[in-house]
Amino acid sequence: MANHGKLRLGVNIDHVATVRNARGGAYPDPLRAAKIAQEAGADGITAHLREDRRHISDADIEGLMDVLSVPLNFEMAATDEMQQIALRHKPHAVCIVPEKREERTTEGGLEVAREENKLAHFIAPLRDAGCRVSIFIAADKRQIEAAHRIGAQVIELHTGAYCDAHAEGDTDKRDQELQALREMSGFAHSLGLEVHAGHGLTYDTVTPVAAFPEVMELNIGHFLIGESIFLGLAPAIAQMRRLMDAARA
Ligand code: PXP
Repeated sequence: MANHGKLRLGVNIDHVATVRNARGGAYPDPLRAAKIAQEAGADGITAHLREDRRHISDADIEGLMDVLSVPLNFEMAATDEMQQIALRHKPHAVCIVPEKREERTTEGGLEVAREENKLAHFIAPLRDAGCRVSIFIAADKRQIEAAHRIGAQVIELHTGAYCDAHAEGDTDKRDQELQALREMSGFAHSLGLEVHAGHGLTYDTVTPVAAFPEVMELNIGHFLIGESIFLGLAPAIAQMRRLMDAARA
């Protein structure tokens, strides 16, 4: 049975850290953003500790583990260093994402199908430590089947191609991408995978994706942090929440 319940919103705070790091100081503070986001209705906080530490820092992850009352979704590349950090903190969820070009599919998600053995070994200790393991992939049957075989509990479907087509005004491509996301949400759910989605979502693009009954969580960052310049962070999140709830109703 597909899930018709409340859709969770994970707010990605990476780009609060991007603005902070532009000056190398302490402001704006991503931890403060995370606290405001959870008060404003975020069901989880997402943060990507990149290998080059271009936005979120190791100290940010430590701080998030201390202050959050909602789950942390820790995005990371499949490297030994990141695995050790995840095993030390044991966040609620880890989402394995590509960082290098060769780790990506043509659509931009993780290349799981070609790296099955390596990824299966990589995620096993994370699962054993109690983290929910999510794999960020394109809406591609081969990648979904591979994610299922390696033992991931969750897949996050990459919505970037759909959002890009929307932004370019290419309605045929947008509709094709949306159809692929719809079909692959259903397919992943039929395998027993929990389905999440994200990347590039805005007020203009969120509704059709939020309406897929199998999708249980959306992770949204860049647009919300940008919109918070104009509206404030809590109202920007509240507006996204309203659109998601309306799509689901
Ligand atoms: N989901 C995943 C797996 C991501 O890596 C990101 C950030 O790149 C997002 C969702 C959020 O994307 P955006 O910041 O474009 O909303």
